[in-house]
Amino acid sequence: MNVVRLVCLILVAVGVPGVCGAQEHPAEPHKHPAGQALINPVDAIRASVTTGRQLYVFDCRQCHGNTGKGDGDMSHAGGVPSDFTDAVWQHGETDGEIFLVIRDGVSADMQGYDDQIPEEDIWHLVNYIKSLAPPREH
Ligand code: HEC
Repeated sequence: MNVVRLVCLILVAVGVPGVCGAQEHPAEPHKHPAGQALINPVDAIRASVTTGRQLYVFDCRQCHGNTGKGDGDMSHAGGVPSDFTDAVWQHGETDGEIFLVIRDGVSADMQGYDDQIPEEDIWHLVNYIKSLAPPREH
């Protein structure tokens, strides 16, 4: 790891946003302020979740599994596909943070879909994926 990257990781880890871009990904769960600022323009009504499910079956199920538990077997680059049914959001839990993961990608396995899936469909995917997550405890 070079020094610049190391400094970036430290700055992001201590919560200094924006210094090294929003797309630094520490190993532990973290936030992406650029994603937190995005507002989901698509209401999570049943029709959207259903559309999201159809897209998911096409593009995501092979890695994230039929029920979203991360138990598909296609992650060739050695990554562990996220389980959407647990309470952990590695890259942040807001709709916008999840949107950015799907649009821009975060790893060799989880590549960005910006050239394959229109943004509105990515929001449908966000609504579907969030429908799999357990209710939040407050
Ligand atoms: C080739 C396998 C593969 C495919 C296909 C794939 N993913 Fe992923 N996905 C991964 C891996 C591996 C990770 C964990 C990446 C990391 O955090 O380092 C991940 C992480 C994610 C995350 C982050 C979850 C969190 O905890 O923050 C989301 C959201 C996501 N994927 C959505 C999708 C969607 C939606 C699709 C389909 C459009 C998709 N993925 C297709 C492998 C895949």
